[in-house]
Amino acid sequence: MRKKVILITGAAGEIGQALIKSLAATGSNQVLSLDLHDLPDDMDGYSTHILGDVLDKNLFARLVTEYDFDVIYHLAALLSTRSEFAPELAHQVNVNGTLLLMQMAAEQSQRRGEPVRFIFPSSIAVYGLPDLETKARDFYVREWDWNYPTTMYGCNKLYCEMLGTYFGSHYQQLSRTTPTMLDFRAVRFPGLISAYTTPSGGTSDYGPEMLHAAAQGKPYACFVREDSVIPFMAMPDAVTSLLQLAAAERAALRRTVYNVTSFSLTAVQFRDEVLKAFPNAQITFEPDVQRQGIVDSWPAGLADKAARRDWGWEPAYDVARAFAEYLVPNIRQRYQ
Ligand code: SER
Repeated sequence: MRKKVILITGAAGEIGQALIKSLAATGSNQVLSLDLHDLPDDMDGYSTHILGDVLDKNLFARLVTEYDFDVIYHLAALLSTRSEFAPELAHQVNVNGTLLLMQMAAEQSQRRGEPVRFIFPSSIAVYGLPDLETKARDFYVREWDWNYPTTMYGCNKLYCEMLGTYFGSHYQQLSRTTPTMLDFRAVRFPGLISAYTTPSGGTSDYGPEMLHAAAQGKPYACFVREDSVIPFMAMPDAVTSLLQLAAAERAALRRTVYNVTSFSLTAVQFRDEVLKAFPNAQITFEPDVQRQGIVDSWPAGLADKAARRDWGWEPAYDVARAFAEYLVPNIRQRYQ
């Protein structure tokens, strides 16, 4: 008999590590984690870890003979800045890798006659505001507003949301029988901030980079203007949203894709929060025109009403609590 497991791809990334730790803390010991990289040593025993590529069909052909994936958290992706430097690779990983996994999950759903829950982190990058006036006017964007991404990563995420919705509702729609489809659910994350890891290759990274540099006593040149504003969220809330969405009753979900957020800050407000904790931090602003353009196209805030209504979403960490109770103490300890 196949072993029932939770599959996490991109497990060695920021969200992956936090999610695995959270699942381990709840006593969930059937996690199969997959990544090109090893997990850090302090995560030994938290999951069965497999070194592998989401593009490796043979690997998945082998894994499905051994495992029954009850829930899949498909986190593997190249982030937005990195994707601009390697758009073809980004498309391969972010789209082809996702398609492969969705096909596998769809087949598994049919075979077992029960939908595999496929949880997908999407992003503010799916939005593309045309100019700063519109960004200021339409401050909190709703899921269906301004879906005109300007980055490869944003295009990939938006398309994969659509693919997921297709696999969840219309896959094999011309066959005579109605197959059991996968159960696709996505959240659109704002910029995430972890106390334990720094992101690599993202465009919202100036926030976490500022904070981690300050905690290490290193100077930091922020690559966007002081007035640049995007929404952010502390990593524990990101993990909570994934777990809550995965656990929600299917019948309660009126959408497949939900915005989630916590607080919006300008880059200078972010710096001021960092200075409260690390008054000697040396933070300057040296905008990079191209990365600035990406951040300017992202919304200033996200309207997360649907998530609140349908599955009780509510962030535990507002800006004050995120810095005072989660980020600052844990980052201090980390670099002590
Ligand atoms: N944080 C991501 C990035 O900057 C956006 O989702 O690429």
